[in-house]
Amino acid sequence: MLFKVPASAAIRASSCIAPTTLPVRSIVTGRRLLHSTAATNATTVQRDHLSSAGESRASRKPVKKLSEEHHRILDEIMRVDQAGEIGANFIYKGQLAILGRDKKVGPLIEHMWQQEVHHLETFNKLVPTWRARPSLLYPVWQAAGFAVGAGSALLGKEAAMALTEAVETVIGEHYNDQIRSLLQILEEDGSENLERRDEIVALVETLKRFRDEELEHLDTAVEHDAAKAPAHTVLNSVFKAGCKAVIEVAKRV
Ligand SMILES: [Fe+2]
Ligand SMILES: [Fe+2]
Repeated sequence: MLFKVPASAAIRASSCIAPTTLPVRSIVTGRRLLHSTAATNATTVQRDHLSSAGESRASRKPVKKLSEEHHRILDEIMRVDQAGEIGANFIYKGQLAILGRDKKVGPLIEHMWQQEVHHLETFNKLVPTWRARPSLLYPVWQAAGFAVGAGSALLGKEAAMALTEAVETVIGEHYNDQIRSLLQILEEDGSENLERRDEIVALVETLKRFRDEELEHLDTAVEHDAAKAPAHTVLNSVFKAGCKAVIEVAKRV
């Protein structure tokens, strides 16, 4: 029997970073929501556990400060991820404005958008806790996201899915890069008493969960005919290049 390999398999395999949830095929189901809730609860329990473990460690050794470079990495992660999730929200809003009533892809886009809403809300809470500087281009990401989302949908359902395929491929890899950076901070320092260590561990879990959801969006797009979009290869390259350029700008501005 032949098993179908999901489009996200290469990104998952190259990451060497375990998913926090198993890939879920039928995403618009109550099962999926239960799955998310269970994962969230597990993370909360883990955070509580880490917190009490952290307290007992703290009583033994002096706290080791995060370096300036570590602060810079965390600041960049917060800014670029918040900006990216703003863009993602508006991409799906733009697609819903055109395809929201489509019985086939409307509910799928709505589901993906709901997950992006949660991602953005999470970063909106995290950014101040890390005293990170939000992107100065907030309105630009909103307008550009909506324009690109609606524009892709006007080209057809397949082009809308091709945008999701390209963007989520880049974002999946981008989250993997950030997870690696954070794990390196934890490993490099080796100090169990590293300042805000437990929050960094919790952030890694959050990024893994979001990465897995972005890769589900990628699989959904591929399963819903992204490759049938007109000039798919060209669109894919243009969308990926655009997404990578946005990430680089959002890291700085
Ligand atoms: Fe997202
Ligand atoms: Fe996404």
